[in-house]
Amino acid sequence: MSQTDLLNIVHRPRRLRRTPAIRNLVKENTLSKSDLVFPLFVCPGTNVIEEVTSMPNSFRYSIDNAVKECKELWDLGIQAIDLFGIPEEKTEDGREAYNDDGIIQRAIRAIKEAVPDLYIMTDVALDPFTPFGHDGLVKDGIILNDETVEVLCKMSISHAKAGADMVSPSDMMDGRIGAIREALDDSGHSDVGILSYSAKYSSSFYGPFRDALHSAPQFGDKSTYQMDPANSDEGMKEIELDIMEGADIVMIKPGLAYLDIVYRTKERFDVPVAVYHVSGEYSMVMAGAEKGWIDGDRVMMESLVAMKRAGADIIFTYYAKEAAKRLS
Ligand code: PBG
Repeated sequence: MSQTDLLNIVHRPRRLRRTPAIRNLVKENTLSKSDLVFPLFVCPGTNVIEEVTSMPNSFRYSIDNAVKECKELWDLGIQAIDLFGIPEEKTEDGREAYNDDGIIQRAIRAIKEAVPDLYIMTDVALDPFTPFGHDGLVKDGIILNDETVEVLCKMSISHAKAGADMVSPSDMMDGRIGAIREALDDSGHSDVGILSYSAKYSSSFYGPFRDALHSAPQFGDKSTYQMDPANSDEGMKEIELDIMEGADIVMIKPGLAYLDIVYRTKERFDVPVAVYHVSGEYSMVMAGAEKGWIDGDRVMMESLVAMKRAGADIIFTYYAKEAAKRLS
């Protein structure tokens, strides 16, 4: 008997795929509701709920409706949100970002009052708050680093004062994690955590998000601060620095196209790893499903479990509510 024939007799991997029960028994990775974070867009006004054109079934909510949405999320078993805000006013100094009565600060207070156990993370970056749409302050066409970090510190303190549980800096300025950690500690907020967007790539997958927040860059792109999609070692360096500076959780972004980075991170570092299933990934699936070319729900669930398999502990996704309905 040939060696191939012998192997075929002994090894029959399909035995473990015969029925749902055995498939479930040998399942290596499972997605659960407690892995999910829902990104929530808050806009000015009252009683507003507006679908984002390029993100079907994703909405901008005024604070009153954001509160209702949070109750619904909680009832569905989603325990964490990440808040993004559209300010009443964009200024070159981005001062609405640290206004204690700004859109995010008011949203945090209202949500905490209505759903006290919901874990609130907040996006920390300046792109919706200045007319330039860049994550930092701009001078003569340059994105300033250290001046931006000072503003991000004020923004983080202001979110913490309003009741945020964790801040998530998504700006990719150098040194911001250490500076924010110190600012939070010095202002009496040592229990407020930091989830750092550590390996954030300069990606065209963010397009629909920028529609949602009216925050598209008004000149150039973000490649002087976000990472080159061609790089992997550089991601490890960014992650290592953020952990040394005090990040509690590190994030890789986008998701599917960057799962090798998630895998390397999980192999190498002993911290919780988050991944952001970003707007473009979401919208492509929704668009394909609308055309009837793919089964959107199944593609979404497959994408999310692939992120778990790569090593993600936490997944940010606009699909969180639908996923939660499909998970026990
Ligand atoms: C901005 C920010 C972006 C996202 C999260 N925070 C966009 C960007 O960097 O231009 C993208 C999220 C998504 O596409 O879903 N600091």
